[in-house]
Amino acid sequence: MPDSAPPSSAPRLDPAASQDSPASTRPNSLQSGFRAPDHRVVQWWTMATLVANAVIILTGGLVRLTGSGLGCPTWPRCTDNSFVPHAELGVHGIIEFSNRMLTYVLIAVVIATVVVVWRWAGTSRSLRWHAGLIAAGVPFQGVIGGISVLTDLNPWVVGLHLVFSMVLVSAATWLVLRVRPTGPTRASARVRGLAVTAYALSWVVVYLGTVVTGSGPHAGDANAPRNGLDPAVMSHVHASGVYLLIAVTLAAVLVARGTTLLRTAVVLLVVELAQGLIGLVQYYTGLPVVLVAAHLVGAAVLVAAATRLLIRSRSAQPA
Ligand code: HEM
Repeated sequence: MPDSAPPSSAPRLDPAASQDSPASTRPNSLQSGFRAPDHRVVQWWTMATLVANAVIILTGGLVRLTGSGLGCPTWPRCTDNSFVPHAELGVHGIIEFSNRMLTYVLIAVVIATVVVVWRWAGTSRSLRWHAGLIAAGVPFQGVIGGISVLTDLNPWVVGLHLVFSMVLVSAATWLVLRVRPTGPTRASARVRGLAVTAYALSWVVVYLGTVVTGSGPHAGDANAPRNGLDPAVMSHVHASGVYLLIAVTLAAVLVARGTTLLRTAVVLLVVELAQGLIGLVQYYTGLPVVLVAAHLVGAAVLVAAATRLLIRSRSAQPA
């Protein structure tokens, strides 16, 4: 039985195309890279989409952690009279406005990705839709960010804003995996079930994390409302979800022993342990900004790792 059949939605990949491609089609040769993108160019841009979506999570977090969430007090203009911040808004205005500008960089990256995916010889209809939906998600996120400002950083809206960014990270991870030629994977129904459970639990944990943040001190502005929940209680609820997630992933590692999915499951487990450690340390040290920022990046890496296990187990042949 052939065990290397790609998932039905995956494009047919030409391994030769990912080998030494002519210099004219390398990413640094922008024009020809867009005119006739080869496999390597497509891989590069899809990865750029993933990284850019993760980076904007960090920069958005830094806006909040520096207390600059209302540095531009309105949206889509920065102030009622101006699209750009003026001197009176100080450093907070510059920080918040810079993050708004980064959205345009992200939009440029996702549009470039749509173009290369669209024009790639190995593309498919669903791949084009996939890249297109990610691209559409970025301006949508810009609007949610705007609503966050217009609601004076309502913690539920800010939390939703982060969750949507994580959805984009997950979708971008899937896109990266779809354009990467990988060897065959084998997984039992049990590994698949555990991978699906770990993925679902990751979202529960991420959402609960945003609820903890909404109850905590890093509101993004001194006058921003809090959700009124007890931060200590919510931290324990959040951490309980994490322990369950770690247990499920550990089970996936044990069940995946001797299969090609073992490494993918171990990577997820290691990311969870590292992220859990950062979470615990930040909790017991009074939420220092550096650790909170690292915890945000860790959450994005975790979503990517959980997506990877989910997708690789889905496309696996029965063991
Ligand atoms: C798999 C592991 C974990 C994941 C994926 C995760 C994810 C998250 C996310 C997404 C946030 C929201 C960040 C934001 O809104 O800016 C958050 C916040 C938080 N997490 Fe976790 N977390 C994990 C483990 C833990 C653990 C074990 C603790 C220990 C108590 C913890 C404590 C916290 C605290 C205190 C906050 C609020 C930080 C703030 O107020 O800014 N986390 N977490």
